[in-house]
Amino acid sequence: MMQKLIVTGGKRLEGELVLQGSKNSALPIMAAALLAEGECVLKNCPRLTDVYSASRILGCLGCKSSFSDNTVTVDSSAADCAVIPEELMREMRSSIMFMGAMLGRMKECTISVPGGCELGPRPIDMHLSAVRKMGVEVSETGGRIVCRIPSGRPKGAKITLPFPSVGATENVVLCAVLADGETVVNNAAREPEICDLCGFLRACGADITGDGESRIVIRGKEHLHGCEYTIMPDRIVGATYLSLIAAAGGEIILKNTCSAEMEPFISVLEQTGCSIYPAKDRIYMRSGARLRAVSSPIRTMPHPGFPTDAQAVLMAALSVADGTSVFEENIFDCRYRHTDALIKMGADIQVMGRIAVVKGVNRLHGADVRATDLRGGAALAVAAAAADGVTEISGISHIDRGYEKIEEAFRQLGGNMKRV
Ligand code: EPZ
Repeated sequence: MMQKLIVTGGKRLEGELVLQGSKNSALPIMAAALLAEGECVLKNCPRLTDVYSASRILGCLGCKSSFSDNTVTVDSSAADCAVIPEELMREMRSSIMFMGAMLGRMKECTISVPGGCELGPRPIDMHLSAVRKMGVEVSETGGRIVCRIPSGRPKGAKITLPFPSVGATENVVLCAVLADGETVVNNAAREPEICDLCGFLRACGADITGDGESRIVIRGKEHLHGCEYTIMPDRIVGATYLSLIAAAGGEIILKNTCSAEMEPFISVLEQTGCSIYPAKDRIYMRSGARLRAVSSPIRTMPHPGFPTDAQAVLMAALSVADGTSVFEENIFDCRYRHTDALIKMGADIQVMGRIAVVKGVNRLHGADVRATDLRGGAALAVAAAAADGVTEISGISHIDRGYEKIEEAFRQLGGNMKRV
């Protein structure tokens, strides 16, 4: 029987919440642990289905990993396999991060096209052409991708990405830390999770500079060692809970946050009339009497632009704002799949290609809706908290890929969400 979330909405929310660790940091860092010949202790790791998938992949490569609360320990000293079965590759998009890590550690790998949220086509052409530049021979046969390195070790190279892809940047870094010579990545993605990955690799002895900027320089080392590292807070989960308070009305103290990294989101949310007081590692927020629409278009862009991952949750909040807000989705082709469910709950949203026009309505109402992807699913939970009556959300395995115990977080804020 598939689980559902039952939300009774329409209630003001109030309370304190400790923000979970970042999924999009934890996954590449777990792949990176393959590069360290020793034990890596990763603290603040969220307990999520995608993290368990990463741990299964590590197991199949001959590594040991174990969980204790939010600490995962990975020991890669006995890693002996460079093949990931197709069913594990399909479980999530981040399985592709193991390509760079396996090339660094084992100097070869066999993978297939990764799965992940359906947000439109999500090719891996940039990942493959970047590693080719580093001396990797890539052949694709019968759905399998086989990578070999004739020279025996990845070679440092100058790589200019056609677009600052997060995943491609991470894969190049993973492949380059144990490469022969220096690698320069131009037009690199600048997302905070890339800095977190590089921070972890530096703690293992890697030589990386420039992360967080568009030009990253990696000088290859012979070996990396294990380390203890704390994964950064999840800025998108943070954006989700702030959107929740904006939508339902109320106040929140969000603890263990990364306020500076959340600034592109916070500066937009502030325009809705919410009072937001970010301190270094916590954020206090109080909603206004009535949410105001955002007057200039909200354009999703690579960091430090407005994050595509926060588009859906903010849209849920703005569907009950005073006035009309406009979104422009520039990162993915098909990232408005949550709008049908929001409309079923009474929202007034029109989608035209990459544009969504959201006319705020007075109230949303409960309905039976289905999550079709991770952040779109979270947006339904946000809308449900603001809606009058009961909302039943199905397809919640999508939500569980990114949110640790979402129903407990709702309850802690005084909301009413049950898992059945
Ligand atoms: C990461 O995906 C995140 N995932 C996504 O979060 C996030 O939405 C995205 O970055 C953008 O910020 C993880 O970190 C695990 P990209 P990624 O490569 O690396 C195109 C979530 O909800 N592209 O920056 O896959 C691609 O199709 C997830 O947590 C190519 O064309 O994103 C997309 O249009 C969803 N060829 C654009 O670039 C390639 O080889 C940006 O993708 C690679 C990407």
